[in-house]
Amino acid sequence: MDGPKDPIDLRSDTVTLPTEEMLEAIKQAKLGDDVYREDPTVNRLEEFAAAKMGKEAALLVTSGTQANLVSLMSNSKRGDMIILEADSHIYWYEVGGLSSIAGLLPWLIKGRMGVIAPDDLEAAMRPSDIHFPLTSMVCVENTHNRAGGTITKPGQLRDISEVAKANDLRIHMDGARIFNAAVAMGIDVKEFTRHVDTLMFCLSKGLCCPVGSIVAGNSGFIDRARKARKILGGGMRQAGIIAAPGIVALETMIDRLADDHRNARILAERLARIDGIAIDLEAVQTNIVYFDIGGLGISSEMFLSKLKQEGVLASNRDESKIRMVTHRGIEREHIQKTLGVVECVSAKTREHRGIEI
Ligand SMILES: Cc1ncc(COP(=O)(O)O)c(C=O)c1O
Repeated sequence: MDGPKDPIDLRSDTVTLPTEEMLEAIKQAKLGDDVYREDPTVNRLEEFAAAKMGKEAALLVTSGTQANLVSLMSNSKRGDMIILEADSHIYWYEVGGLSSIAGLLPWLIKGRMGVIAPDDLEAAMRPSDIHFPLTSMVCVENTHNRAGGTITKPGQLRDISEVAKANDLRIHMDGARIFNAAVAMGIDVKEFTRHVDTLMFCLSKGLCCPVGSIVAGNSGFIDRARKARKILGGGMRQAGIIAAPGIVALETMIDRLADDHRNARILAERLARIDGIAIDLEAVQTNIVYFDIGGLGISSEMFLSKLKQEGVLASNRDESKIRMVTHRGIEREHIQKTLGVVECVSAKTREHRGIEI
């Protein structure tokens, strides 16, 4: 299982497959019942992950969505209001679990490249008043998916965190791809995590595990999160088979994210030169590349189907925005082939529509 070969799958880094070393680790894993806290491999991963994040404790959960939901449930109580960036994954793509399950009212702030301005957070604060719900927390997303894999830098996190603390809010980081941020900036992940109370990150996605995410924070929070995970049906038994590749991921898969970032940069810079395609190169900071094909005069659906016919898979965000994500299994030659296909499809489309650019 060496990652996708044909077609070239740039839809997401979630399509990555486990490495041989991960499969071997699964085979060798010592197992027990994790609901009784008796799976030694899970315990080892949780201790390792907590130390890596500079937090007291950590918890293995099934997915990024579950990680965020148990974090919301354990940082606030039903009826509270929580503040989110308007394009955040929690708000857009987690099936509204924050309201339907956690009972929370979302308050949205539009950020710049996914980053909330501290002044906007301050302005969103409401006085204590019989009419208002209590605002209990603010969430940040790092890297930010819908903004294009953009980074909230440690200094920006510190400024947001200062406003949160001054207003008695807890701060949670959806760090599904936090290692992408750390690798792109060449700094330790703790430079980010020290500014937040709680966080989650995904072992799947760029780190290539088949399943799993980690939640981290202080021990009291993790105790509550463990209970929340159980309510959601996420109490797993011999979960060491999930934890074993997680340990391999944390030991061996982080530094290689730099390759994905280099490939994304090459892809973005060449896309920027194609007539009819617009791209914000400033927003290409890690492994996600968004570009706009509005200038070609066809829908993103149609564009995707033309790419697919030529063996390239991508995804779309709206009528004109295309997303490509680099990951393990996507090498330089795949980037070159993808660029060739996009150039060819774009040229044919312009020709067909008689567009002079
Ligand atoms: C920023 C972010 N948070 C959370 C998630 C949810 O992760 P999962 O798909 O494992 O539920 C994703 C998934 O793409 C994501 O991009």
